[in-house]
This record gives sequence, C-alpha cells and structure tokens, in this order.
Amino acid sequence: MTEEIAQRRTFGIISHPDAGKTTLTEKLLLFGGAIQVAGAVKAKKASRGATSDFMEIERQRGISVATSVMGFVYNGTKINLLDTPGHKDFCEDTYRTLTAVDSALMVIDSSKGVESQTYKLLEVCRMRQTPIMTFINKMDRDGKPAIELLDEIEDRLSMKVCPLSWPIGNGKSFKGVYSFVEKRLILFKPHSKQTAPDSVVIESLDDTRLDQIVGKMDADQLREEVALVTGVYPSFDHELYMAGIITPVFFGSALNNFGVREILDFFIEHAPGPRSREATTRVVQPDETGFSGFVFKIHANIDPKHRDRIAFLRIVSGVFERSKRFLHVPSGKYIKCNNPTAFMAQDKSIIDVAYPGDIIGLHDTGTFKIGDTLTEGEAFGFKGIPSFSPEMFKYCVNLNPLKTKQLHKGLDQLCEEGVAQVFTMIDGRKIVGTVGALQFEVIQYRLDHEYGAQCRFDQLNFIKACWLESDNTLKLNEFVRLRQGQIARDKDERYVYLAETKWSLEREIKENTELVFHTTSEY
Ligand code: G4P
Repeated sequence: MTEEIAQRRTFGIISHPDAGKTTLTEKLLLFGGAIQVAGAVKAKKASRGATSDFMEIERQRGISVATSVMGFVYNGTKINLLDTPGHKDFCEDTYRTLTAVDSALMVIDSSKGVESQTYKLLEVCRMRQTPIMTFINKMDRDGKPAIELLDEIEDRLSMKVCPLSWPIGNGKSFKGVYSFVEKRLILFKPHSKQTAPDSVVIESLDDTRLDQIVGKMDADQLREEVALVTGVYPSFDHELYMAGIITPVFFGSALNNFGVREILDFFIEHAPGPRSREATTRVVQPDETGFSGFVFKIHANIDPKHRDRIAFLRIVSGVFERSKRFLHVPSGKYIKCNNPTAFMAQDKSIIDVAYPGDIIGLHDTGTFKIGDTLTEGEAFGFKGIPSFSPEMFKYCVNLNPLKTKQLHKGLDQLCEEGVAQVFTMIDGRKIVGTVGALQFEVIQYRLDHEYGAQCRFDQLNFIKACWLESDNTLKLNEFVRLRQGQIARDKDERYVYLAETKWSLEREIKENTELVFHTTSEY
C-alpha cells in the first residue's frame, strides 16, 4: 500500500475561463498517453456551455460525469486530475472539488494576469493550505511583462512566488525559456505544436552559446532579468510550497505544448501525494490500514426516469475493496458497493480495489449526501467539505400549489446533490442560491422533469450569504430581529445574513463586532 500511495498525485486546475485550462488538460492527457489525439477534451468543452438549451443540460450532465476525474499515468506516477468546471457550468462543485485534491495547478493568461475566478478558487485552496504550482500560459501572445505578472500574483493572491523558468521575450518575439531547475535553454518554435522542444544545456548564463542561439540582445536581457529575479525572489523551498506559502512558477504555452513537460516533471517529483486529513475525532493518515473516504460531489444520472446518482468518493486511508461492507457514518449503517467505478481519462470502468488519493464513483439511490464519511467501522466525520456562500439568489415561486410537496422534495434533493442551496426566509419563502447562473435553469428543468413541480425564479439583489455565529445570543437575536428582510435559515436551521452589497456587508461586520460572518458553512 505504501508503494501505491507514493505513486499517486491528485490535483485540480484553478484558472479563470479562457486562461487555457482545457488546452492544458488535453496536453497533460496526451503526455500521459490517456488520449491519442488533440481535440478530444476540447470537443467535449465545445459541446458544453455553448448553449443553455434544455436538451443540452441533460447532455452536459453526462459529459461532466465523464470529465469529472481524469486519470492518467506519467513516468510511473498515477495522476488524478479533478475537473473544476469554469465558464457557464461554474458551480459549488468547482469549489468543493478543491477540498478533495492534494495540490493545485494555477493557470494564468499572460495577457490578463490574475483574474476574479482564479482569486476565488485560490481562497478555497488556502482554507486547507493546498500547495500550488503556477503555469503562466500563452507566452506566445503579447502579454504583460513577466515581472509584472509575478508582482500581481504576490499582491493580489498574497503568495510568495518563486520562478523556476524565465521567458525570453514574449508574443511574436517569444524565443523560449531558461529553466533554472534543469539549467537548460528550451527553445520555442511557433506553430510547430512541438512535443519535445529543442533544448540546450547551458550551465551558466555567461556561456557565449546563449548569444549565438537567441541573439546578443535577448541574451543580455535574459542575463539582466535573471540577475534581478534571483536577487528578488526566494529559491524553491519545498516546505513553504507544501504549506501553500510559496508557489513555483513556470512559463509556457499550452497550445504549443511548450513548458508542459517541465511542469509535469516537476509536479511528479515535488507535488504531494495523498495527505493526511483532519476528522472530527482525530487526524487520519493515508497509510492507515482502516479504509476511510468522503463524498465531495454527487451527480444525478443521465436517465431522469431513474433517480439514481453517482457519488464521488475521495479515498483518504486504507484500501477500498469492491463488495466489502463499509460504515456509512451519518446513518450508522453498513453498506456494500458492488459496482464502484474508476475514471481513466474519459473512460469509466468497474474496479476491485482503490487506494488513498483515488476517486471512485459509487452508485447511489439516495443514501449519500455531500460531505458523508465512509469508514471500515470507526465513527468519525471528515472536516473541510463545507457549503460555500452562493453569489446569486432568486426567489423560488411555486407555480402549481397542488405540487408543493414535490417542489420541496425536489429542492431538498437537489440541495443534497449540491446543485444549489435553499434558504428559508423568516416569512417562509424559499430562496435558491447558486454560484453559477446556469444552475437556475438546471434546477427549473429538473424540478419539472423529475419531480413534476413547476416554478419560476424571481430576481433578488443579494451578493453573499454569511452564516452568523455569536457567543452572545441576545446580540444575535437582536441582529436577526432588526434585519428580517435579510435573514434566512439554511437547511440545518442556522441563521444566514443575506448581504446586498460588498460595502453593506463590510459595514455590518464592522458595526457588529460580537457577531462572526462566515462565508462557508463549516466553522
Ligand atoms: P479554458 O478551458 O481555461 O476556458 O481555456 P481553453 O483551453 O479553452 O483556452 C481558451 C482559448 O485560449 C482557446 O482559444 C485556446 O486555443 C487558447 N489558448 C490556450 N492556450 C494557449 C496558448 O498557449 N497560446 C495561445 N495563443 N492561445 C492559447 P479559442 O479561440 O477560444 O478556442 P479554439 O478555437 O482555439 O479552440
């Protein structure tokens, strides 16, 4: 088992839409031999998110099951890449997936720098001190100067950066990178879609071959910049990387397959394998013999006639065995999983055993909820799989009073799947909150097709839901009483404050020092 654990790397990509996540994913899968032709992942993306047609929603659900976990092997290491949907299908799953990874790869568009979604996803990584590697993409396009990009990461993301390669020019004049790790000049050939870039070992930048290869002007600029960079930025420190304090940075172009091998090589050597995880009673180590894992995502199946689902389980410790009975901690019942599936690239297959770091799909007829823990017998629950504050809110108006029960049941079950969160206002009205706009269409469609309940969504101008906590019950009750129009309860009856603007939230936080405003449900 120790060997199996050491061979695994489970990670996710954090990026803003269009930074190049899909292109890079595809190149990683190509390197791992998991797909044969470029375009396979891309084609799936093209058919996703482009339209919100209802049939499309159904199809997307099938596709996103297939791309939820992409496993591939690179140089003997089994890599599990967990999909973090961006674009229109951005949803709470995107956040929650990051609670199931051991490290993340941040992709930044060199012309755009740090963008909003990257920032939000990084905040989630920070909750568990997730180690992060950075790939600055699209160096073949005119972009911001490298130093400016590094400054932006440091300032906006409050992380220390440590460049491990340095670009020579950018845009049309991009000639390649100098790798500090490999002491190698890696040359870029535009449009060649090269799989192995030409490279020359150059131990010292004083080597005159550098001038011959890239020209005197660029060679001198590289020397100057590298001297500056090595003086300003720290060298790579594995411990600080593991603590999520420092991020190693690489430059490249996913589209041209440039710089991809370098990150993969560095990744398998330095990125953490399955890590220990905090549970309610103790910390669980991956190499413990007792099996344990948690559900971080639930996916409704494609066939709406059968309300069966797939629960995605991340294995934390021990060995998962097919058909063995495991304790479903929340219900206290032992359950048997006969057809667990593993995911390799876009294929699903039934597996007999799985190890820490692996993600398996369990067929579910309503047993599992997000965050549920499964163990060999010990009763503990894993921490750190919270609900995140939604950013879009709508009133759910029941259009058919005869179907009220079905509507509530449907909303509850969609809540369990993590499609949306439902809050109940003091006057009993239901508010649906999501982090992505497409989710409202999905909910409306599914309520109608799976539960026979029709609803309409009315716009609400809230931007965040904060779970309220206070040692002073009087103060809390007073706050709730005075702001009835902005108070609701979550599924566990806890109070949330619905903020209308960032500014009003900041003011409330400032003025109510005895109250804590949490942006996730776990505190
Ligand atoms: P995403 O998943 O993060 O949303 O990004 P995606 O990979 O789809 O890339 C977004 C666009 O950026 C795509 O162009 C893609 O080809 C392009 N791109 C990705 N990496 C690079 C790179 O290294 N250099 C350059 N120049 N472009 C890159 P598109 O026009 O939207 O799509 P397509 O028509 O090329 O498929």
